[in-house]
Amino acid sequence: MSNPKVSVLLKSNWAESGLVLDVRRGLGSQPRTLPPKWLYDEAGSRLFDQITRLPEYYPTECERTILRDAAADIVAASRATTVVELGSGTSDKTRLLLDAFADAGRLERFVPVDVSEETLRQAADMLAARYPDTSVEAVVGDFTLHLGHLAGYARKLVAFLGGTIGNLYVEERGAFLGALADSMTEGDELLLGTDLVKDADRLISAYDDAQGVTEAFIKNSLRVLNRELDADFDPDAYSYVPFWDRHMQRMDLRLRAEMPQHVTLPGADLELDLASGEEIRVEISTKFTEERLRAELGAAGLEIARIWTDPTDSFAVTLARKVG
Ligand SMILES: C[S@@+](CC[C@H](N)C(=O)[O-])C[C@H]1O[C@@H](n2cnc3c(N)ncnc32)[C@H](O)[C@@H]1O
Repeated sequence: MSNPKVSVLLKSNWAESGLVLDVRRGLGSQPRTLPPKWLYDEAGSRLFDQITRLPEYYPTECERTILRDAAADIVAASRATTVVELGSGTSDKTRLLLDAFADAGRLERFVPVDVSEETLRQAADMLAARYPDTSVEAVVGDFTLHLGHLAGYARKLVAFLGGTIGNLYVEERGAFLGALADSMTEGDELLLGTDLVKDADRLISAYDDAQGVTEAFIKNSLRVLNRELDADFDPDAYSYVPFWDRHMQRMDLRLRAEMPQHVTLPGADLELDLASGEEIRVEISTKFTEERLRAELGAAGLEIARIWTDPTDSFAVTLARKVG
């Protein structure tokens, strides 16, 4: 078998056409927004990897602790022989789970899915070397568009880690979970990592680190627009504004124009006038309660089998099963 196998589902003009639509819709409306998938070009993926190692950014370590402690229990509770990972990035923590599946002789296939091709290819090479008896079938794809591709895999566990589901708005989460459930057969499983609602100070410091890496990651979105759409954003003219939206229970990460800005985006045939103080929301990170998890998964026909949390109750990993 050729290992790893890499399928590219994103069309070559995906970034161009998708970004143009998203930019016209998002930056042209109020409040101005950008979908977070455009944060993960090569530079963005590298910056996110740095974020996961910051002392303030607790989610990665909390999720790693859960996976380290519970991996064998997860495998015992699962009937899967194929592990799919959505938004897999470097699949770093995922190795704890994959090791447990491999130790149990149950890792026939691993399917990492990500929009960030370079990072995905590197991860797939590393994983194919680590699990020589496993078929590594990487997919360069968009989990908001390509879930139908997963329907062909039987006995699967779909891991969606890192709290990435919290980057979607509530209506997007509903559509995503519905499409995911459609790609699963009865008994297939979802392993979902979610950050939990907690003290606002701890949340804000996690997204406002002393080294400014999160700020650089969020500002990288403007560099993506400059490169892909020939835009003329001046990243230094914006300040980074992370805040906790108590009502929506989400971190809201914005860029604020410190002076009036006239921006041209020829690739999207768009011109923007931002007033002084006007903001662009670049990312949200929704935090969950068990009640919200049950409601959102249940609405998609996914029943919770078990929830594991870390010792500080900061983060949760939930195993849910598709019911008939
Ligand atoms: C918050 S990071 C999490 C990475 C890793 N799963 C972890 O737990 O550390 C989000 C990942 O999802 C990917 N991603 C974002 N939007 C995506 C989309 N629409 N389709 C596929 N991958 C996406 C990014 O490239 C990135 O690797």
